Amino acid sequence: MKALYLLPLLLTTSLFSQGLDGEQLAQKHCASCHLITSNSDRLTDGKMGGPPMWGVLKKMKQKFPTQEEATSYIMSYALEPSEEKMLFPQATRDYFGVMPSVQGKVTKAELQAIANYLYKSTRERPENE
Ligand code: HEC
Repeated sequence: MKALYLLPLLLTTSLFSQGLDGEQLAQKHCASCHLITSNSDRLTDGKMGGPPMWGVLKKMKQKFPTQEEATSYIMSYALEPSEEKMLFPQATRDYFGVMPSVQGKVTKAELQAIANYLYKSTRERPENE
């Protein structure tokens, strides 16, 4: 029910990402653990390093409704993950562990591009809970 209103956002340009390709960067740096382009909650080989991105986004949008808040949370978390910042419940941490920092692997500008891309394009799972 929430998927359609995201469409107009796809048309806005990424002002802060300086022409970087957020999709490519997200695939490179985040997709190995977070399913990004799928609504499924399982990789075909059954191995996942983290919660699927639709799940991350769903949690974040409940807590941080604006794009600005949500993207700065993504950036802050990816650089300095911690139990205090976690929106996921303890069960997630027990299952996956706390996310390792991507510090040193992506620049801030790249992370901004990733965050913008994720916020705009990750589909949310159809409501079935
Ligand atoms: C090595 C695996 C791994 C990689 C790579 C990875 N993550 Fe994560 N991520 C996790 C795990 C595990 C969790 C769940 C535990 C937690 O929240 O720390 C998580 C959780 C998150 C959360 C939600 C935190 C919360 O609990 O509120 C965000 C946001 C996030 N990741 C963003 C990213 C972004 C952006 C990238 C790419 C730049 C990325 N992750 C790359 C493993 C990874």
